[in-house]
Order: sequence, then structure tokens, then C-alpha cells
Amino acid sequence: MNNRFGRAARAEFCLDEAVAFLNHGSFGATPRAVLAAQDRWRATMERQPVHFMGRLLPRALDAARAALGDFLGADPAGLVFVENASAGVNSVLRSLPFGPGDEILATALGYPAVLNAARYTAARTGARLVTVALPLPIRGPAAICDAVAAALTPRTRLAILDHVTSATACVMPIAALIEACRGAGVPVLVDGAHAPGMLALALDDLGADWYTGNCHKWLFAPKGAAFLHARRDRRDGVHPLVISHGVDNGLHAAFDWPGTRDFTAWLAVPDGIAFHRSHDSEALRTHNCRLAAAMAAELATRWGTGPAVPPSMLGSMATVRLPFADAATPEAALRVHDRLIDDHGVEVPVWAIGEALWLRISAQIYNEPADYRRLADAVAAIAH
Ligand SMILES: Cc1ncc(COP(=O)(O)O)c(C=O)c1O
Repeated sequence: MNNRFGRAARAEFCLDEAVAFLNHGSFGATPRAVLAAQDRWRATMERQPVHFMGRLLPRALDAARAALGDFLGADPAGLVFVENASAGVNSVLRSLPFGPGDEILATALGYPAVLNAARYTAARTGARLVTVALPLPIRGPAAICDAVAAALTPRTRLAILDHVTSATACVMPIAALIEACRGAGVPVLVDGAHAPGMLALALDDLGADWYTGNCHKWLFAPKGAAFLHARRDRRDGVHPLVISHGVDNGLHAAFDWPGTRDFTAWLAVPDGIAFHRSHDSEALRTHNCRLAAAMAAELATRWGTGPAVPPSMLGSMATVRLPFADAATPEAALRVHDRLIDDHGVEVPVWAIGEALWLRISAQIYNEPADYRRLADAVAAIAH
């Protein structure tokens, strides 16, 4: 194993030494070096706010966008910063002219807040949210492609598909799903909240109509840094959530000024990318994916349970069934979460999905096998 990973990498983050932090997935953890870069931007802003906003910012945003486009394999002309993936999804939903009888397709593995946004949009426009059931454990990519393809109808106006699902940590067969939708004439919005930094991306090649992703999860950027990418033929009709000075002046102008805000998280995105690259992006991704798969297998064996998805569909997170007979309710999940952190110092998300309680581990460069063994012992202690 690369000797810059594990304990050695821990000092590069502000994380609490007392906690086994196994939830990089929810909000990321920003390296000290990236936070320092953000602080420098903030100092520049506060030294001369008018000069910063009026003169420096447009060029700095273009430079940050160029660096992000290079990392994502995305033409910067179709790339804009947004606050988070939720904003990216909502921007597209609000930009499209849904009408009565139209269908918005998503899967049951979709992020609950995104499903809420789609449901809200549907309710306001007379459209309908169609949710494709995908029971656990997932059998493989073909099962997902077949289920989604079977749910497309002549009324489907948009498919919202995750690249990496949240609670179930499934790397979806996104290229095949996009192809199936395209074959049926259905535009695709990819919710790639977890993908940047976790998976190698080439967004222009992937060819989704729209793709939104977070930089603050696996790309080490400060919180509040995300993007929306629009394919060449989809750049005109998409608008930000906040309509401001740049309306009707092109994609960049419309999104780059959502009113006065702290832009420093966006400007520090190149520093998150530099941190990722300084750890050799390929080696980092491989380390995280191998660690997640190995530790998920070890936990499932120890607890006599199983994973939510096959090992071939994992990225740097994995969801494993808990060995508890408790009723699978959100309250029971919260109780287990709270005991894990409060009594055992292990931060890991727990969910009630279907008939069982599950937990999702993350693997980031600061993690090592001992973190997961602490989790294994804590769960065994709670189970007794
Ligand atoms: C699949 C997915 N989509 C969207 C989001 C929302 O991300 P954000 O809170 O940064 O908007 C998340 C957050 O975890 C997610 O997992």
C-alpha cells in the first residue's frame, strides 16, 4: 500500500483524532491545504471587495472552470459552478417545460431530496414522477438497465439517473443507461453527486444531456462547490435557480453571478484538484475502491450478512446489511448511528432500506483497516 495513505494522510485533514471517520461520502472532508487556499481568496476579497467582485472574480472563475473542465473531460463552455448537486438538479428541473401527463423518471435508489424536487416539479406542472423499483441486493448492471428501459414511455420527458447512488453506494451502469434513454428519445440528467474524484470521468464522451456533480465530496473542495455541465445542444435552455444580472447573456454569465455570495469555495476547486493529483489520482481512486470493497467483504463475513450490490459495482463506498433483527425503521437506524458515534467513536451512516438496517462505509486516503475493525467490534457489541 502507498505509504502516503492511511495514518500518514490523516494529518493533512482537520478530522477529530478520536473518531473513526467512515463517512466521507456525506459531506466530504476538506484538506488543510485547500482550506488555506480558500482563506487566501477570502483575504483577497476582503482587502478590496469591489475590485475583487468586479475585476478579479470573472477571470478567476474562468480559470477555475478551465481546471475543472480539464479534470472532468468537459468543455468549459458547457460548465458552470453551482452551490451543490441539489442546485444543479433543481436548475434543470425548473428549466424544462413539463406539462400535464408528462413523466419524470427516476429510480428508487435516487437521493431522497432529488426525488422530492422531481415530485415538487411534477406537482406544479401536472406531470408525474415515475420511480423504478430496484430491490436489494442489486443483482448486476443488466437488472438495472432492464428495469429502467422497461419504465420509459412516450410520455417520459426526463430521466434523472444517479452515477453513484447515495444510501446503497451503487456505481450505476451510467453509459448504458444514457444510451437506452437516448435510444428512446429521452433526455438524461445525471446526478453525479459522488462521482467527481471517486471515478475517472470524461463528461463530453459520456454524452448526458446534463450532468451535475459535487466537488466538495470526493474532489476535496470546500463545501458549497459543485458544477452543472450541459451538452453542447443543451446550453441555451438551462437557467440558474437565481435569475440575476446575467440572464439571457449565455450560460456562464447567467450562472456566474447568482447575486452577492462568498465565491471562495468555487475558486478553491483547482486546489482540491491539485490535492487529488498530488496523491496520484489513479492511485488514490484505486486505493479507495480496493479498501471499500475489502472492508465491506470483511464486515459482511464478520456479521454473517451481505452487501447491497455486487463488488463489481462499488466505488469508494459500500453498503452492508447489519446483523440486527430490529424493525427496519428510520428511528431504529438513527438509534444505531447514535450509539456508534456516542459510545464507540465511529461515524458511519445507517439506513432502514426495505426490510433491513444497512450501513454505508466510505474509504478515503486517511482511512485504514483499523477504522473498519473498530466498526466491526462496535456493531458486534451493540448486537449483544
Ligand atoms: C446521489 C446524491 N445526490 C444528491 C446529493 C445532494 O448533494 P448536496 O447536498 O451537496 O446538494 C447527494 C448527497 O449526498 C447524493 O448522495
